[in-house]
Amino acid sequence: MLAHGDVLNDVYTAAAAKCVSILSSEYRGTAMTSKQSKSPDALTFSPRRPSFELAQALAGDWHGGSAFKTAYFNAMSILFPLGEKFFIDSVRVYRNQIDDPKLLDEITAFQGQEAIHRLQHQRYNELLCEQRGYDLDRFERPVRDRMTWAYRELSARRQLAGTVANEHLTAIMANDMLTQKDAFTGADPHVAALWAWHGVEETEHKAVAFDVFVAVGGTVRERRQALIMNTYFFFKDTFRNLCIMLKHDGKLWSLREWLSGFKYLFVSPGVLRRVFFAYLGFYRKDFHPWQHDNRALIAEWEQDYGSTVSRSLT
Ligand SMILES: [Fe+2]
Ligand SMILES: [Fe+2]
Repeated sequence: MLAHGDVLNDVYTAAAAKCVSILSSEYRGTAMTSKQSKSPDALTFSPRRPSFELAQALAGDWHGGSAFKTAYFNAMSILFPLGEKFFIDSVRVYRNQIDDPKLLDEITAFQGQEAIHRLQHQRYNELLCEQRGYDLDRFERPVRDRMTWAYRELSARRQLAGTVANEHLTAIMANDMLTQKDAFTGADPHVAALWAWHGVEETEHKAVAFDVFVAVGGTVRERRQALIMNTYFFFKDTFRNLCIMLKHDGKLWSLREWLSGFKYLFVSPGVLRRVFFAYLGFYRKDFHPWQHDNRALIAEWEQDYGSTVSRSLT
């Protein structure tokens, strides 16, 4: 009886070991082939290398002679070189935890696109400050200090959540700009072309950081908190830069500029008012950037302007 029990025990142990082995190999197999990218299957993208004639326009009020509208976009441009470095770094940290080949390709393209955005906006900002006598360091200092704090104090996943939130802000503004086509009415065509190119690439890679965040266990709560925090800082920094620029140009107390600026942002065309519901969508539990499929905007831009910018081979 004892020997029989021993044999049974051996059989059970062997069977259990086999089950564990099958289950774990199946699990590994699933992980290796799981689809982590939720971008449309047919969507592929890569960095472009555009060139824009900005110098002449940036010396003046390039947005139809409006000091407010010009300063509003210039103020946002100031934030990009530092912000986009942070986005690249926060995604890079998790690259080795991703095994979906499509998402890996998208990470490479995302990093390449953001790196070129950084360069283009760095050049934009330097030309702008040089010609208009602005102090670039004064604009960047508080942003740089906050980035240093974030790199030091926030976990890698919180940093990535910050990127996911900012990518939502850029994606919804890009969608509005490319759909409505009135955000740059009367603006210098060279500067408007830069913003359109940036908007198209933000649309292409809008889900990359999001998909990495989900793949590495990011939670709904983390991304909601990140959007609240990043919305606050995005508008605080933009508004600060805008006020410094208007003050420097002697327009800070111009009621006419502020009324026309308010109208532009919230009434007609209302570039911020129009993105409000898209903004709220991010707080939904089941949100994903590609639930709104706006690939047609990319195709349309490619048809009209795509041939004027060259593709990067990297
Ligand atoms: Fe960008
Ligand atoms: Fe981006």
